[in-house]
Amino acid sequence: MQPDERTPLVSLHHRNGKPSSSSSSLSVGNFSPRASSSYSKLFRPIITALALLSILLYTFHSRYPFPIPFLSRQSAYPSLGPSLTLRLYTNNIRFDNFQHPDRHEKPWSKRRVQSINSMEFNTISGHANVICLQEVLSNQLTDIIRGLNEGLGVDGEWHYCGVGRTDGVAQGEFAPVIYKKSDFIVLENATFWLSDTPAVPSKGWDAALERIVTMVTLQSRVNPLIKFNVFNTHYDHRGKVARRKSSQLIVDKMKHYNSYPSFLCGDFNTEPSDEPYRILTEAGFKDGRITIDSKFAYGHESTFTGFDLDKEPDSIIDYIWSPYFTKSAQRSREKEVEEKNQMINYYNLDHHEYYDIVLKSFGILGNFFHGFYFSDHRPVVATYELTRTRLI
Ligand SMILES: *[C@@H]1O[C@H](CO)[C@@H](O)[C@H](O)[C@H]1NC(C)=O
Repeated sequence: MQPDERTPLVSLHHRNGKPSSSSSSLSVGNFSPRASSSYSKLFRPIITALALLSILLYTFHSRYPFPIPFLSRQSAYPSLGPSLTLRLYTNNIRFDNFQHPDRHEKPWSKRRVQSINSMEFNTISGHANVICLQEVLSNQLTDIIRGLNEGLGVDGEWHYCGVGRTDGVAQGEFAPVIYKKSDFIVLENATFWLSDTPAVPSKGWDAALERIVTMVTLQSRVNPLIKFNVFNTHYDHRGKVARRKSSQLIVDKMKHYNSYPSFLCGDFNTEPSDEPYRILTEAGFKDGRITIDSKFAYGHESTFTGFDLDKEPDSIIDYIWSPYFTKSAQRSREKEVEEKNQMINYYNLDHHEYYDIVLKSFGILGNFFHGFYFSDHRPVVATYELTRTRLI
């Protein structure tokens, strides 16, 4: 392994700092013409044959690509059209809690400025973005869409999918999936309740409240061959059974929803050591926080803060998950082999034959500015490169 493979900044020095130049050791004069001529009769046909063979192989390979072991680190297949750089941003923004706010909680009218600025700043153009939020009441959703669209309201670029969880229309918290119309076409969108009756507003198992997952299938406008699902959810804070069943329900939905790879974002009220987490990893979902080489992870380590600066809990409950075949961009040979061996494909999906997905960056962002928290959760952000490698 070369030392530079693991360093983020590729050093620019050449061979111990000496820039390479045409040195005398490379001069052609070292090769004796007399010696060459005595061997040429023997070697010329061999060299010609080898050259012809290489040209043939090269031509054949560029027309009918086949994997060459050890040579190709990348996918064996050429990409079909441009790849898509996708940034997923997830944040539990804290519902507009004007009746019983926590002691250090500021009203939404104050919190919303940095909350929306954070979304705006972290989804600046240059890639396609999907914003997944939790605990969004309909007045907050209006503020956010208007804020992102800079006053243009629903006529602007940013749009959302999702419904209020209490009545399936506008009552209660939304888990909206927010995107730009110029980036994506929505192929499908649906809301499921995390319960035994997922099609209708309902509470599941021992849950304290109605809980939902918003599922959206997006088609890239940059490359219409790139289609994927984004699931956005918020697990119950009280029901232990409900959280476990929620993971099982989502894993099942992922398999049966359609034939596209699925990303999953949200507030899972689940620590990495808890069972609902294990159900997702065992089904193949890759946690961005773990998938990224830890050296390249940006920002904080925990995602839940509460509102009291002096009593910040050390808690990881917000996640971005990606499909089972996701690779990490910065990785050593060892990690690459490990990734291949550890690819869990619970349902025997074939998505990895059609797509390459590479995690390029992952971060847990700040939520405390100007002396207060804009939410009790930190935003989590992951950037992926999606490449379509094969047609169905
Ligand atoms: C999402 O689905 C709902 C209900 O089927 C539909 O009314 C709405 O137009 C869809 N949204 C988008 C952006 O396609």
